[in-house]
Amino acid sequence: MRVLYGHCCRFQVLWAALAVSMTIGFTIQLFGVSFQKRASLSQLPPTPWAPPLPKAEQEEAEGRPGHRCQPRRHLVFLKSHKTGSSTIINLLHRFGDARGLRFALPARYQFSYPNLFQARRVKGWHPRGRPFDILCHHMRFNLPEVQKVMPPDSFYFSIVRHPVSLAESAFSYYRSVVPAFRRAGTLPQFLASPQRFYRPSERGNHYARNLLWFDFGLDPPAAPGLAPIQAALATLERTFHLVLLTEHMDESLVLLRDALCWGEEDILAFRHNFRSPESVRPLAPVEAARLQAWNNLDWHLYTHFNRSFWERAERFGRARLAREVGALRQRRAERMQQCLQGGGPLEAGQIADERIRPFQFGQAPILGYVLRPSLDPEWQALCQRMVTPELQYKDLLDAKQFPPPPQGNGSQAGGVR
Ligand SMILES: *[C@@H]1O[C@H](CO)[C@@H](O)[C@H](O)[C@H]1NC(C)=O
Ligand SMILES: *[C@@H]1O[C@H](CO)[C@@H](O)[C@H](O)[C@H]1NC(C)=O
Repeated sequence: MRVLYGHCCRFQVLWAALAVSMTIGFTIQLFGVSFQKRASLSQLPPTPWAPPLPKAEQEEAEGRPGHRCQPRRHLVFLKSHKTGSSTIINLLHRFGDARGLRFALPARYQFSYPNLFQARRVKGWHPRGRPFDILCHHMRFNLPEVQKVMPPDSFYFSIVRHPVSLAESAFSYYRSVVPAFRRAGTLPQFLASPQRFYRPSERGNHYARNLLWFDFGLDPPAAPGLAPIQAALATLERTFHLVLLTEHMDESLVLLRDALCWGEEDILAFRHNFRSPESVRPLAPVEAARLQAWNNLDWHLYTHFNRSFWERAERFGRARLAREVGALRQRRAERMQQCLQGGGPLEAGQIADERIRPFQFGQAPILGYVLRPSLDPEWQALCQRMVTPELQYKDLLDAKQFPPPPQGNGSQAGGVR
């Protein structure tokens, strides 16, 4: 157990509690507690920190003088589930960390998901307090409340994935905690007659159907037909400046960089929170068709944003996009060689350092990274941040933004935090 988590007993208690409660909300809360306790273990080099960039690139990242655009620093990222959003989170964490930006953070790891986002759930938020720069942790989107927290010039973006592969991933990840999935046992059984296992009102079942639709804060359409669906999507279109596609992550990152006026380094990330490819079972065509029909709202949402994505790509220029994607891949391959032992991802069992071991959940192992030994200190600082999983990184940002009071003896000792 020590190898797994270094908190053997807490971990066992956790699983026992899990077995009893079997509800997502409770589960996440427990994990939250576990990670909160681990925050003190995470010690990266002292802040402030800036990535060791060549001068020209630093200037580019900061917006070159005379450059036609200024890098955007007010960002709202709707972190959708099972869409590769953890990779984007790493970029955002590093971007804000390097520049001392203020994150709107949840008390634990999510903003009381699956409830709608509420401004008062943001740590340190006050109606007349300083606005934040970046809001990016799991939430169910709720624009009026987000606007209470974030500046009016914020850039809103998110990421969507094909509903068939998203639903397969959700089943694999949440099988043991989502009532509809748990009852069915296997995906083929679930798909044979999902209605048999699914009750919309049951807690946790939002993971079982139209998860994107849910995360975007949309309600089930009030009337049948396409009109209410299209009206809902038009609302999102007005709110979100850019919606990325999981299937085209690198194209997405290039378009994101263009939209944000960021530097090349700012979109360079390793993939985070993903299953080992061998553990992903390919779907039979009939399963895919059923998943698509079952998640029909997500299907509409995905095809809608797929269309806007490729229209944007067209405006950007297909040849230019291909060129920049090629350059991004090459830089990432070089960075992996530079930073990583083995030059690529490893299973968590091979990652002894719990500051960088990814959180394990669901049926399949989640991969992570190990740093090459004896990196020089600057590279160490950068590489370490590139491999730090989202939960640990959130703890670091939290500790930086809300430093504990000085550990004095005398009157300060024992002060309430
Ligand atoms: C997404 O858009 C591309 C380009 O227009 C198209 O080829 C593809 O079929 C679309 N995918 C879906 C699922 O709509
Ligand atoms: C605690 O108090 C003693 C005596 O006043 C002092 O010498 C010591 O430096 C203090 N320690 C800390 C951590 O403040």
